[in-house]
Amino acid sequence: MKKTIITLAFCVVLFSCNENKTEFSSNENLIDQKIDSLLKIMTLEEKVGQMNQYNGFWDVTGPKPDGGDAAKKYEHLKKGWVGSMLNVTGVKNVRAVQKIAVEESRLGIPLIIGFDVIHGYKTLSPIPLAEAASWDLEAIQKSAEMAAEEASAAGINWTFAPMIDISRDARWGRVMEGAGEDPFLGSKIAEARVNGFQGKDLNAHNTIAACAKHFAGYGFSESGRDYNTVDVGTSTLFNTIFPPFKAASEAGVSTFMNSFNELNGIPATGNTYLQRDILKEQWKFDGFVVSDWGSIIEMKAHGFAKDKKHATELAANAGSDMDMESYAYVEELANLVKEGKVKEEFIDDSVRRILKVKYELGLFDDPYKYCDEAREKDVLGSEKMHNASLDMAKKSIVLLKNEGNLLPLSKKGQKIALIGPLAADKTSPLGSWRLAADDNTAVSVLEGLEKYDGNNLTYAKGTDLTLEQPEFIKELKINTADKSEFGKAITVAKNADVVIMVLGEHGFQSGEARSRAVLDLPGLQQELLEAIFKVNKNIVLVLNNGRPLTINWADKNIPAIVEAWHLGTQSGNAIAQVLYGDYNPSGKLPMSFPRSVGQIPIYYNYKNTGRPVLTDPGIVFWSHYSDVENTPLYPFGHGLSYTSFVYENLNITDTFKTNGTISVSVKLTNTGKTKGKEVVQLYIQDKFASITRPVKELKGFQMVELNPNETKELKFSLTKKELGFYNNTGDFIIESGDFNVYIGGSSNTVIDAQFNLNN
Ligand code: BGC
Repeated sequence: MKKTIITLAFCVVLFSCNENKTEFSSNENLIDQKIDSLLKIMTLEEKVGQMNQYNGFWDVTGPKPDGGDAAKKYEHLKKGWVGSMLNVTGVKNVRAVQKIAVEESRLGIPLIIGFDVIHGYKTLSPIPLAEAASWDLEAIQKSAEMAAEEASAAGINWTFAPMIDISRDARWGRVMEGAGEDPFLGSKIAEARVNGFQGKDLNAHNTIAACAKHFAGYGFSESGRDYNTVDVGTSTLFNTIFPPFKAASEAGVSTFMNSFNELNGIPATGNTYLQRDILKEQWKFDGFVVSDWGSIIEMKAHGFAKDKKHATELAANAGSDMDMESYAYVEELANLVKEGKVKEEFIDDSVRRILKVKYELGLFDDPYKYCDEAREKDVLGSEKMHNASLDMAKKSIVLLKNEGNLLPLSKKGQKIALIGPLAADKTSPLGSWRLAADDNTAVSVLEGLEKYDGNNLTYAKGTDLTLEQPEFIKELKINTADKSEFGKAITVAKNADVVIMVLGEHGFQSGEARSRAVLDLPGLQQELLEAIFKVNKNIVLVLNNGRPLTINWADKNIPAIVEAWHLGTQSGNAIAQVLYGDYNPSGKLPMSFPRSVGQIPIYYNYKNTGRPVLTDPGIVFWSHYSDVENTPLYPFGHGLSYTSFVYENLNITDTFKTNGTISVSVKLTNTGKTKGKEVVQLYIQDKFASITRPVKELKGFQMVELNPNETKELKFSLTKKELGFYNNTGDFIIESGDFNVYIGGSSNTVIDAQFNLNN
């Protein structure tokens, strides 16, 4: 009898899944109906099961586990008590877990398989902060598209990306995962990444569901220490933190992830205001919210939940739809519903959201659609992936300084010394969050340069950055004593025309839980740089890092500095092409570089104080430091080219009243000798408002490529959306008054004009 019921139920599910495949993927109503019928036959435990996500557990293609946690997870899978798994990778493994869910559980509901595809899967693109430095939305979208194609070929159908936390704090290691400090740029990039991952059709076999994370405020952790307390006011929340999330929601992102931090006293995971009021009510987000890893149970340590059961109640009532690895929902939620502490309609709503994404992915049509071994073999690490990664890597490089045009290097037999612990490194350029990529798979700078002129190239490491092989989950051991390789490097430098020094952070020095209180070059690298400088001043410093660093000495003394971040698999090739001028750099910083850690948080869109400038020479009573300038070392938007650009004729046409726009135009000329790309940036300042406004806010940018002596007129249009702001009750308002408009190739080199908005 039991068998008959199960078979019957299975048929209902299959029937509801298989009929009319194409129509139902595009038909919301039909999906709703299918979900309705499915919900009717699900037990409470099965519903809760959909809200449960487990980490990969045993070698799924091997023997079944017979004890401990793995056995429990396996049993739960068979019972239909697992809705999703993360970190199960590779077609073989994904097929194996999917098979248990689909073929052994009562209702056969497929799993959604999540993974941190943060900047590529097997083939890595630059870390997201580096990609943001390209300001090239098309390229960024393409990069996410490639990541989706590769990951989906390995069985993955859901990425925990994009990470769109705005941050003004380079101490926070996770800045490498985001798009930097600006909400406007951050929103555009959020949209591009969502579109890239999800494509036009989530049902396609090479697109995957995206996840906007971490909602919300995670990038504002106090003192840049990961997981730390966040306390921000309404204005910062609405004008700075929310915009990229709103943009992701409007772009149709399938899922959100909440965050580890508390926000103004309430952990994000148990935060009804964030998840229900803002996200689901105000923004009408109809996907689902997954908790961060263990963030439900962590509410206990926060001092917000009494115990696991209480944490479960708080999270479910606050609108966290899926529990990642807290084992809370699976153990406690059904009982809480039975006790009346969590409404069953909340459970139904969560399950509906989760099933909807599964339907949209086409998992009910074919649970094994991402499990094609032939495709996996073809796509992973393919030439197409490598080409895309190289293209993105070149676009992400920022030329910070180029005194005396030391760069580009001459191809006519210049003797080059390549020095530094990261120069031959084939792992570090992969950066953090590269879970599926293998060690030693990046092209090193040494390899990249050898392709140009190996005969005139000598290499010496100079020093080791770490004492032992770094591991993702372990604290790095930095070398602070062993200088035994200095001598060789000095000799090599003495005999060279130009020295290229590749210094910075190991790939695992940024990322989750990698906060740093000191942002100088770690270990002995500064000492090495100064020692080399003593014997050869023609130094090009190539930085590999996951965050802004404090490099005052280098800025003062080293003629050329190239910000090359952690650029992924094709790193060395991209760097070599830029150094030799086969690619003219066009990147612009998405985050300010501080002069000193003491300036942090430092960001271009700060507000004026009542005493913003020195008015009386020699008198101290104005807003400043007595030991460091207020300005950053390199401002947001900064980045040079091998050519030069001149901005002229900034014109404004105000037709706001008649057609709701302010038109701004500017003339840009390439005044140098090389073809080059410029990111033209438009900023506004609302000079006087009912709530104080930043001194500058980015409101538009365009990328333009010009031949030498070519001039182009560029047009921008500002609408209500760009001119308004959120007030302290979270309402969007637009006020009449005087505005400044600034245009330029950085947030501080600009020409300006004014207009008066008579709303
Ligand atoms: C991170 C998330 C990530 C999750 C799963 C957490 O520690 O905060 O961003 O998606 O782990 O790997």
